[in-house]
Parts: sequence; structure tokens; C-alpha cells
Amino acid sequence: MNIILLGPPGAGKGTQASRLVADRGMVQLSTGDMLRAAVKAGTPAGLKAKAVMAAGELVSDGIVSALIGERLDEGQTGTGVIFDGFPRNGEQVEILDQLLAERGQRLDRVVELTVDEGVLTERIVGRFTCAQCGEGYHDRFKQPAVPGTCDVCGSVEFKRRPDDTAETIATRMAIYRGETAPILPLYEARGLVHRVDGMAEIEQVTAAIEAALDG
Ligand code: AP5
Repeated sequence: MNIILLGPPGAGKGTQASRLVADRGMVQLSTGDMLRAAVKAGTPAGLKAKAVMAAGELVSDGIVSALIGERLDEGQTGTGVIFDGFPRNGEQVEILDQLLAERGQRLDRVVELTVDEGVLTERIVGRFTCAQCGEGYHDRFKQPAVPGTCDVCGSVEFKRRPDDTAETIATRMAIYRGETAPILPLYEARGLVHRVDGMAEIEQVTAAIEAALDG
């Protein structure tokens, strides 16, 4: 089963994708994570993407589709792929259709996480991750059990994303409204969209997504 998790910055796409990976053996393909890895590694794609991402704008369709295509070609897609953060505009919808068709695959569901925009800035500005294992935390919603020490690996080093500032978040939200939300009607016309309340508790959101996938 191949699915898209769609929603604005901070809607919980990454959080829910990780849970589906653990619960269902699916594979998460996050273009944001891939791009951050490319930036860190200093690849040609990463060098081009760095400033664009820091400004909260969209990286070129060519760079993103190449990353996704390469990853699909590696195989090892488990029980299915969760596209997290891709597609993000009409061109990327067409690119995904083509990438899947070339590999004899199809898209099965588009899960839209619906959220009140008002909570998103707080969710994003407050989040941080373990620099060692990547476990996610939040200043207000999810602190490590022992302050300053990762629950999972014991590391004492944490990091925040450079694009998680109030100013950049405003740009990211505007791009979501202007370029990404308009792709929903394309998938609605294909009968693929399932809406899930992303304002509920994280566990409840997961249960609602699972129901949408099994329904
Ligand atoms: P990307 O990494 O995809 O970021 P994003 O879409 O802005 O989404 P986020 O990762 O910020 O949020 P999320 O929905 O995953 O929320 P999370 O689960 O972390 O993209 C970054 C950049 O890369 C883009 O701006 C662009 O430049 C570039 N890029 C990426 N893909 C691209 C593409 N396809 N084309 C072009 N450019 C691309 O949750 C957020 C916080 O809320 C966490 O602290 C979490 O614990 C908390 N939380 C989650 N759910 C709940 C809940 N139900 N209740 C309470 N708290 C919750």
C-alpha cells in the first residue's frame, strides 16, 4: 500500500509516519529528511537546497523527484511507502504518478491531517530532536523523562531545525496554502482522500489513520 501523508508544516506528518513504520512495516520517504541529509553531506543537491530550505521555500521539483526516484529504485519498500512531504505542488503530483507507473505501482490513499493553523507555530517552534538518534521532543508537549538526556539513547546533545523560526514558518504556511493545498482536489477527484483530525492526541491520530488505511 502506497500512501501520501498531507498537511501543513507541523501537522504531524513525520510523527505519524514514524508510528506507521513501527506498527505496519511501511517505509517513510520524507523529502524533508532526504534534503536535510543532502545538506549535511554537502552533495550538489544539498548545496543547492540549503538556502532555499532555510528560507522556507520549495526546493526545485527536479532535485526532489530525483531523490524520490533514487530511493524507489533502491527497493526495500517494506509493506508500502509513506510519502511524507511529497508531492507539494501540481507538478510533483504528475511526477509521482509517473514514478509509480514506471515501477508498476499505484497510489492507494491520501491522508490529509486537518489542523488549526493557530497551534502549528507553537508545535514547530518548540520541537527539538536528539542529535544522536533523532528521537523527537517538544519544549511543552514532550520533554525527555530526565531533563537534558534522550530517553532512547541517553545522548545529551539535541538540535533544532534552522527553518523552525516564526518568520520562516509564515513562509512555509503560505506556500502550503498557495501550492500544496490545491493538490487535494486532484486526489479527491480520484476518490483517494481520507481526512483525519490532526488536532487529536497523537495516539488517536494514529488510530484514525490506521482505520483509514484498513477501510
Ligand atoms: P519538511 O521537512 O517536509 O517540513 P514540513 O512539511 O514543513 O513539515 P514538518 O516536518 O515541519 O512538520 P510535520 O507535519 O512532519 O510535523 P511533526 O510530526 O514534526 O520540509 C522542510 C523543507 O524542505 C520545506 O520547507 C522545503 O524547503 C523542503 N522540501 C521538503 N519536501 C519538499 C518537496 N516535496 N518539494 C520542494 N521542497 C521540499 O510534528 C511537529 C511537532 O508537533 C512535533 O514536536 C510533534 O511532537 C508535535 N505533534 C505532532 N502531532 C501532534 C499532536 N497530535 N498533538 C500535539 N503535538 C503534536
